[in-house]
Amino acid sequence: MSINLISKPIVDQELENLKNRCNKLKNSGIIPNLQVLLVGNNKASKIYTNRKKKFCESFGAKCDIHHLDENISVDDFINELNKISSDKNVHGTFVQLPLPKQLSNLEVEKLIPAEKDVDGFHPFNLFALLSDNKKNDYFKPCTPYGVMNLLKYYNIPISGKNAVIIGRSMIVGKPMQMLLTNANATVTLCHSKTQNLAELTKKADIIISAIGKPKFLNDTYIHPDQKNKTVVIDVGINTDQDGNLCGDVDFDKVSPLVYAITPVPGGVGPLTILTLSQNLLQAAEKII
Ligand code: GUN
Repeated sequence: MSINLISKPIVDQELENLKNRCNKLKNSGIIPNLQVLLVGNNKASKIYTNRKKKFCESFGAKCDIHHLDENISVDDFINELNKISSDKNVHGTFVQLPLPKQLSNLEVEKLIPAEKDVDGFHPFNLFALLSDNKKNDYFKPCTPYGVMNLLKYYNIPISGKNAVIIGRSMIVGKPMQMLLTNANATVTLCHSKTQNLAELTKKADIIISAIGKPKFLNDTYIHPDQKNKTVVIDVGINTDQDGNLCGDVDFDKVSPLVYAITPVPGGVGPLTILTLSQNLLQAAEKII
């Protein structure tokens, strides 16, 4: 039986911390304030932003979602974002991705000031990650940092291990590569043009999938001799043919073959929200 890497104990433990930090800020007259821009009608984005808002409110922070029209012009979008991010009462802001076509060429990462970029996507924050800055004065990208916290909580060794990441997005794959490299793993970043993916995953100690393909990673990607050694982290949140929520990993086929695996839901997802919340408080604490 593999270990089920659920995130609930991590979230429960950290929630108390967040409540205490939030109370301390409130006692100094500061209400941690997160402002979210949601553009258009992407169903998943609506669900994610609502979850982020609900969680922030659960530890006492303020969170508003600005729902903008799918067809908003570039100028109107930039004006709205500038208005929100320049408000001195706002400590953190982010734009939920993906954006509609007319905005997709905008470099939104650069439009939010680095000190309010709780997503960790601003070039300042990304450079700190790239250079393995040990100071806690930048924001870490939420999902990859959540994965690192999960590995740490479950005492999964990283140093010297072979990690294979599937998916090279700016949100997950690329920053994940940096975090694992900084933690002394040997990292292979795979993508849609990677040849012989199964050969690489079969040699991996840690597999992280972030490609958004329902149940893509099945038993054919796990080496039989690696049985009970591999750790599988599923970042995907998809729906299968029957409309049920599922990850990138075929959990039932992979779970019996590995040492540990994250479920979907209940694995990585809540940790993204947790890191975002930690970043928000870090932003608010800076101004005490
Ligand atoms: N869309 C999917 N994941 C994320 C995330 O972590 N941040 C933002 N801004 N959009 C996303």
